[in-house]
Parts: sequence; structure tokens; C-alpha cells
Amino acid sequence: MRFFIVVGALALGILATAQPSLDATCTITSYNEEDIKNAERDCAELTLNGISVPAGVTLNINLKQGAKLTFQGTLTWEFYEWDGPLVNITGADVEIVGAANHVLDARGTLWWDGKGGGGGKIKPIFFVAHGLKNSIIRDITIKNPPNHAIWIEDSDGVVAQDVYVDSIDGDTLGGHNTDGFNVWRSNDVTLQRITVYNQDDCVAIKSGTNILVKDNYCSGGHGISIGSVGGRDYNIVENVLVSNSQILNSDNGVRIKTVYGATGSVTNVTYENIILKHINKFGVAIEGDYNINTGSPTGVATGGVPIKHFTLKNVTGTVKKSGVNVYVLVKNASDWHWSDVHVTGGEKTKKCEGIPEGSDITVKG
Ligand SMILES: *[C@@H]1O[C@H](CO)[C@@H](O)[C@H](O)[C@H]1NC(C)=O
Ligand SMILES: *[C@@H]1O[C@H](CO)[C@@H](O)[C@H](O)[C@H]1NC(C)=O
Ligand SMILES: *[C@@H]1O[C@H](CO)[C@@H](O)[C@H](O)[C@H]1NC(C)=O
Ligand SMILES: *[C@@H]1O[C@H](CO)[C@@H](O)[C@H](O)[C@H]1NC(C)=O
Repeated sequence: MRFFIVVGALALGILATAQPSLDATCTITSYNEEDIKNAERDCAELTLNGISVPAGVTLNINLKQGAKLTFQGTLTWEFYEWDGPLVNITGADVEIVGAANHVLDARGTLWWDGKGGGGGKIKPIFFVAHGLKNSIIRDITIKNPPNHAIWIEDSDGVVAQDVYVDSIDGDTLGGHNTDGFNVWRSNDVTLQRITVYNQDDCVAIKSGTNILVKDNYCSGGHGISIGSVGGRDYNIVENVLVSNSQILNSDNGVRIKTVYGATGSVTNVTYENIILKHINKFGVAIEGDYNINTGSPTGVATGGVPIKHFTLKNVTGTVKKSGVNVYVLVKNASDWHWSDVHVTGGEKTKKCEGIPEGSDITVKG
């Protein structure tokens, strides 16, 4: 039996005619869209145990208010070249959790070819939290996402905590663009105790307000980033605090990228108590010259997405010899406050441009 009700001991056929029990607990052990639809409607607690999602199918879950979704065992997704997402969850006041020893094994090695989203096989986005309200995502383990691991989009009041994205295999097996978290068009989002081993941004905040990113560990990727901001349907980032996080063996540590020729704004962003180790390219990179089409900097910044009220406090650590400690190339920036920025080891230098006057910037190299 694929679908059974534990609490209430009702068979599904009976539930269809009887008044559904609001506190039913349901477990699904094999993918079936109909079973999932019924469970969404009838179950306050829904467990997906060891299911394999068919090729080219999104595991869509529209939780009813206050419901709890639990992932148990090993969940897998069959290979198919498409954009995905492989999981898309929505709901209000819901809890999305992983049981002990569960893993969402996206089996990215089947797609990886070193080209990421920029060519080769078409690689699906893995997990989208869409339109979540006042909800929590916790204790989730994701292994080998084909492309970006988690998007939080059009959401309001989301806490994601104790989430582990393990894309270590991508270092040797062609993982690319395996972003940990992307946040878009969302407000009041907290990401805490996140661990990400990957090959692109650990966290990328593309738009949204009131975002807290703390107590995280990022290894192998491109650092904790704001951006790229500009050139999308909503281009405002406001009130972001990134604190108490470690960024290791990554191309960048602290990064803000705004899009060349675009409009928008990045206002009131603080990074504090950040430790960097073995950064390859830039310890701190603040750039207003990102080309959204090529994914590369143009070398000339534009000022349509001004970075205002930007604080760095107690950002310390090391860059590899071949890297740059701190690089700034912006226009139209204002109200910056940097203190205790001690990023050392990089022997390459790049000329900084556009640092607002009177910023009290003390960069000790
Ligand atoms: C996720 O599902 C919602 C409906 O709940 C839909 O509007 C949205 O476009 C989906 N997101 C993606 C990335 O497919
Ligand atoms: C700046 O953002 C922080 C959160 O990081 C918030 O507490 C503070 O109120 C914001 N300041 C302003 C002036 O909005
Ligand atoms: C600087 O940040 C580090 C790492 O989070 C922390 O251990 C240390 O206490 C901070 N120093 C100050 C003066 O806040
Ligand atoms: C600078 O930013 C302001 C908004 O704060 C904008 O109105 C102005 O056009 C920008 N200037 C340039 C040169 O982009």
C-alpha cells in the first residue's frame, strides 16, 4: 500500500467520503501524484519516505495551513534534461523537516558536465520554496544538486536552519553553478546554521528585505553574496545582516555584485564577524560592473544600482597569494562604514574605484 493513514487508522477510501481528520498523519512511500494531492488535503502531517520521483516531474507540495512535511529515508529523482524544479513547496505556517538520517539525493552527477547552467546538459533547479509564509525549513540534507540547490522565492517569514548542502562530489565530478541558497522577492528570511560545500555562491541574495544570514559554514564555492542585483523584475535589496559565518576554500568571501547598466538599489547591508580562509580570488569584492548575460564583469561600473549604507565590521582572514584581498569597483555608492577588516595574504592588487569619501575604510593588508 502506497499511502496509509496512521493516526485514526482510516483507509483512504473511507476518508474520501468521511470528514477528513484534521490531525491525520500520512506516509507516502512511493511517488504517486494522486496520493500526494489527497495527503495535502487530508493530512496535518505528511511524511515522504524513500520515494523516487519520476523523470521530468516536479515533486509539487501545496501544504495546508499549519501542516508538517517530513522527509524520511533516501529520496531520489530520475534523470531528465529540463529546468525543473525537482521540488516545489508552498504553504503557510508550515514546517518542512528532515528525519534523522534522511537525504534528498538529487543525483547531480548524472547531469554534471562542468558547464553548469551555461551549456551542456540542461540541469534542473533542485528545491524551490515558493510563496511560503511564516514557515520553517529545518534539518534538511541535500546531496549533489544538479544546479542551484535551494530557492526561496516570493516568500514572507521563512526560517531555514540546520540545512546541509553537500555537493563535495562536484569538486571532482564537474559540479558547477551549484548555489546553496538563492533568495528572491522575499521578506523576513533567516538562514542560520547552514552548511554548504559547493561550486558557486553559498548564499546569493538577489532581491528582498530584512534578511538575516548567520552562523553559517561555506566551503568550496563563491562566498556569501548579495546579487547579482539588477536586470530582473524586482531589484531591491534592503536590510541584510550577515554575521558569524566562516567562508573557506572559496573563490570569494564577501561579495556584492550589481548589474552594469541596470537600475535598483542595495541599501543597509552589514557583514560582521566573518572569518575567511584560503580564498582563491577576492577576499572582499564589491562590484558594480556585472554583465548578467555573460556572467562576467565588464570592468566599468555603472551607478544605477547604488550601494548605500554598507557596513563591514570584523571581517578577517586569508586569501591565497594569487588572489586579491579587497577589491571595490562601484559608482554612486554612499554611506559606507568599514572597521576591523583584516584580510591578508593576497599578493595581487587591483585598483579600487568609487569608495565613498569619508567611509572610514581601514583596510589592513
Ligand atoms: C512553484 O509552484 C508555484 C505554485 O505553487 C508556481 O507559481 C511557481 O511558478 C512554481 N515555481 C517554479 C520555479 O516552478
Ligand atoms: C538596517 O538593517 C538592520 C538589519 O540588518 C535593521 O535592524 C535596521 O533597522 C536597518 N536600519 C534601517 C535604518 O532601516
Ligand atoms: C570577530 O569575529 C569572530 C568570528 O565570528 C569572533 O570570534 C570574534 O569574537 C569577533 N571579534 C569581535 C571583537 O567582535
Ligand atoms: C545614483 O543613484 C540615484 C538613486 O540613489 C539615481 O537616481 C541616480 O541616477 C544614480 N546616478 C547614476 C550616475 O547612476
